[in-house]
Amino acid sequence: MELMEHPSDQLAISVLQTINLLSSIVTLIERNFEGSHSRFVSEKSAAIAEVMGFSETEIFEIKTAGLLHDIGKIGFKDSILLKYPNEMNKSEFTKYSMHPTIGMNILKEYFAFENVAEIVYQHHERIDGSGFPRHLQMNSIHPGAKIIAVVDTFHNMVFKSSRDKLDSVTSTIKFTSATAYIDSTKDRYAAAINFLTQKSGTLFDKDVVEKFIDLIYIERKNLGKRSVMRILVDKVEPGMIFAESYFTSYGLLIASKGEKIEASMIKHLKRLAESGDIPEKILVMK
Ligand SMILES: [Fe+2]
Ligand SMILES: [Fe+2]
Repeated sequence: MELMEHPSDQLAISVLQTINLLSSIVTLIERNFEGSHSRFVSEKSAAIAEVMGFSETEIFEIKTAGLLHDIGKIGFKDSILLKYPNEMNKSEFTKYSMHPTIGMNILKEYFAFENVAEIVYQHHERIDGSGFPRHLQMNSIHPGAKIIAVVDTFHNMVFKSSRDKLDSVTSTIKFTSATAYIDSTKDRYAAAINFLTQKSGTLFDKDVVEKFIDLIYIERKNLGKRSVMRILVDKVEPGMIFAESYFTSYGLLIASKGEKIEASMIKHLKRLAESGDIPEKILVMK
């Protein structure tokens, strides 16, 4: 019997593998974040798109664009990666503001990424036209890019560290409770929510801001009810949350603190525990 899979299945697998491949390259420029910036942006943007009633294909494209939105920063120097745009000098900002265009140019080479490339190209556009690179306004901005803009801004404000704080963020802070984890980001969280609310309707799409704040509020509230425990990888269940970040022996991020454990990750985690890349028991919030 012919065991070849259906060609379209093979194509789907190949698209997913390409996404994973590019996504692991992107994590290499995320040293200055607490957890994975791209995975957070991807996961939350897809959740907003779902609440807003986007089609399955659109949600998938937004999820992918979230993972790859900063791919154009690969090769940028730390002097740019570790700064907020308002801390950059003119030439650093000029270079920085090219990343959506570079990203779009990389992604458009792959036939399956046509829409993804467009979303990536537009993720720094703002609805009042003050964004870059094309100063698009309102409805001329791709709806997926409007979503990513909000989640991206939030994650940068809460989980990005500037140069002087890099050591404290990359160190493995261990929390004994979920509440302590929430408290550690409390001030930055409040500032980010404030900023998004203030700029809702000028920089950011009102509806997106509203949906995102609802989502993140419920998530943090539920997180507070969880307890932190160390459990065998064999006992890990989907829906648990990583309470610390895990890296491969060569420094590639496997899982980031605060990230939800998906069913699809569990097999991979077991393999990594067997090979000794991660401990037999991992710290989770349940
Ligand atoms: Fe960006
Ligand atoms: Fe980003």
